Amino acid sequence: MAKLTVRDLAVHAQRVFTRVDYNVPLEDNRGQMVITDDTRIRATLPTLRLLIEKGARLILAAHLGRPKGRREPGLSLRPVAARLAELLGTAVNFADDCVGETVEKLVRELPPGGVLLLENVRFHAGEEANDPELAEQFAKLADVYVNDAFGAAHRAHASTEGVARVIAKRGGQCAAGLLMERELKFLGEELEQPARPFVVILGGAKVSDKIKVIDRLLEKADSILIGGAMAYTFRLARGCRVGLSLVEKDKVEVAQAALDKAQQRGVQFLLPLDNTIVTPVKTAKLDKKGRPVFDLTNPRNWTEDNIPDDAEGVDIGPATAARYAEVLRHAKTVLWNGPMGIFEDPRFAVGTNAVAQAVVAATQKNGAKTIIGGGDSVKAINRAGLGDQVTFMSTGGGASLEFLEGAVLPGVAVLTDQP
Ligand code: 3PG
Repeated sequence: MAKLTVRDLAVHAQRVFTRVDYNVPLEDNRGQMVITDDTRIRATLPTLRLLIEKGARLILAAHLGRPKGRREPGLSLRPVAARLAELLGTAVNFADDCVGETVEKLVRELPPGGVLLLENVRFHAGEEANDPELAEQFAKLADVYVNDAFGAAHRAHASTEGVARVIAKRGGQCAAGLLMERELKFLGEELEQPARPFVVILGGAKVSDKIKVIDRLLEKADSILIGGAMAYTFRLARGCRVGLSLVEKDKVEVAQAALDKAQQRGVQFLLPLDNTIVTPVKTAKLDKKGRPVFDLTNPRNWTEDNIPDDAEGVDIGPATAARYAEVLRHAKTVLWNGPMGIFEDPRFAVGTNAVAQAVVAATQKNGAKTIIGGGDSVKAINRAGLGDQVTFMSTGGGASLEFLEGAVLPGVAVLTDQP
């Protein structure tokens, strides 16, 4: 059922508790935390501008990282307040906590159109526990609830779910923000009755992460193109040898079941035709978790079914990229989730970049609706400088995946239905 949105609200001088997802990457620059990607902050601006225009008294709540109920100075949202003020071109007040008397006073003093960002809600253990007491404390600050944090909507936490329940119970409205509305439209409605052919590109490391999505999309897609390390688990299911490639041996049956279902339903299910492989060589270095670091040496294209025992697949090869581009050329709807290889290393980003180019071409030349399903694929397409040339990029990670799996997101379910 369609949910109430910020457009439906008359909120002049009302206190609007707005949950946003400002879980942005930060880097320590000589003791100062610097935001390295502000996409998630920018993505909320239309909602915030609309609420400011309506004269709302805007109280913003967000989490940053996973401080597990403890105050961690490195995970303070203070740098976000500064960045948000720059982007909005208006003052953004910052509260040192997210509940309590000082915060209540700041809210009382907030004028219509004023903006107050609360400190990281996860500094309180009650947030992740969806503690009713914390939810009550949040609700004390507000007349109306808005959720624009699609990226956190799969969490039933005090600021994403509990507070909305309290506000709704006392007759207050709970609405979706404009970003939330767009996410639900592109990852939901647009894929219910997609323009065809509907091509799905799935990559990433693990079949287990994506199997529910694969299973659901096998009911809807015309073609599914597989890349990333999960392709090697599918290869195992086909009886091929995969050398030292990353695989989930215990998921071979699951992969086989997906291959069978694709065949039964007549879905074109493509695995890589060729791969970039390397020879991993152990070094004396250890990673952060104390595991040995391997140099990935001698990158080469491999066109045979069986990967040599001492080699590892790290990317799709050029023949695969060309084949996938050919399928994408005819697409009218495209959903992409997960990179084609270890794209963080430029040597193994070639396949991912080629797919990104093909997705852009489908958008520009074929008028396809192209939807990037969040996480690493968004990172990859941004790195390739193509972020503004697709139809929609999700700001969610886990939330996008759960939504694509068909899960009901608690942060959405709790919002007021349209009359
Ligand atoms: C994300 O970055 O995916 C969201 O902000 C949710 O963060 P979480 O996985 O720590 O709940």
